[in-house]
Amino acid sequence: MSLLRRKSHSPTSADDSGAPHPKGTGSISTVSGARHAGILGIGAYRPRRVVDNHEICQVLDSNDEWIRERSGIITRHFAGDGESVVDMSEAAARDAIAMAGIDPEQIGCIIVATVSHPYQTPAAAPLVAIRIGADTAAAFDISAACAGYCHGITLASDMVRSGTAEYALVIGVERLSDFTDPTDRGTAFIFADGAGAAVIGPTESEGIGPTIWGSDGNNWDAIAQRDSWIDVRDQDLGWPAIVMQGQTVFRWAVWGMAPVAQRALDAAGVTVADLDAFIPHQANMRIIDAMAKQLKLPADVAIARDIETSGNTSAASVPLATERLLREGLAPRGGLALQLGFGAGLSYAAQVIRLP
Ligand code: UT7
Repeated sequence: MSLLRRKSHSPTSADDSGAPHPKGTGSISTVSGARHAGILGIGAYRPRRVVDNHEICQVLDSNDEWIRERSGIITRHFAGDGESVVDMSEAAARDAIAMAGIDPEQIGCIIVATVSHPYQTPAAAPLVAIRIGADTAAAFDISAACAGYCHGITLASDMVRSGTAEYALVIGVERLSDFTDPTDRGTAFIFADGAGAAVIGPTESEGIGPTIWGSDGNNWDAIAQRDSWIDVRDQDLGWPAIVMQGQTVFRWAVWGMAPVAQRALDAAGVTVADLDAFIPHQANMRIIDAMAKQLKLPADVAIARDIETSGNTSAASVPLATERLLREGLAPRGGLALQLGFGAGLSYAAQVIRLP
């Protein structure tokens, strides 16, 4: 049935003047937001417990030299007993909000990107909202693994520009030590814990360029929880740790992600010469080096290498690396950075941002 026909058959109702009008003919009011959005504050939380390769190799059949050479990781952080995804999110969020200089009550939406919140439902985000004093904010989690934070930045900036929220909080957080098999040679030395957060809000000029994103479901199982919860229940399979086809993901990242990063630069109308920093997902130092080479980054562009001491923290890796570049003065406040997340899905998202 066509819309027109549907209208003509609708019952009538009264408008403000009392005159009847057919249902469905009234217009919907909308809201408009800020002309531009940007990242106003960044925060990070690194768990106190530092774990070196020797400790990892007490259980894993590997060695410090191999891990450093093949991944670039020297140490990583593991969350302490009872230190949850929500706890780490709260800590990172508080720092981001302080840097942004806003009242938590002004936050209209909280997006938590994570794959290691240990409840199927509800999401972690509503608890984070309560903890930080944004009690009534819309709050939900997204599952885009290592690309989750960059997906969240996209959603948040669109919300601010459309008027759905004046300020939005994006958190990337993982406690991957819970979902890693310490004896698995393909993952045990890589994955780690931590949280990073960003406050997105209105800005004078554009602070977040167009996002280039996408997915490749043909490689859905290249990084995945080993078994579904249903199979775990019905087949008594034990804890379903995350497993990874390392070489498949490595090749995809090295050859597929530099072009995505280049498209994000092109979409933002900037070149590598304009960049102050390159902040790719901290998956493997060799992947970071290969991408930097393909992009032909000038020597004065700071390259995030937080993986060395943070490991691969999936959704938390890009904001953690961003916070560190700023804290250590390796990238200037207000500078331009190209950020890129990629991982399970397979999924990816990249955008040029102005550093807070
Ligand atoms: O965060 C989401 C995105 N994730 C990524 O982007 C990760 C992408 N993948 C990787 O970073 C790499 O594939 C790994 C770091 C996971 C593995 O490195 P690799 O260079 O791809 O190792 P490989 O699987 O090709 O193995 C190379 C050699 C093999 O020995 P042979 O056959 O050459 O004698 C393995 O048996 O290294 C051996 N090996 C190990 N040796 C010591 C594999 N794992 C280990 C280990 N310790 N943990």
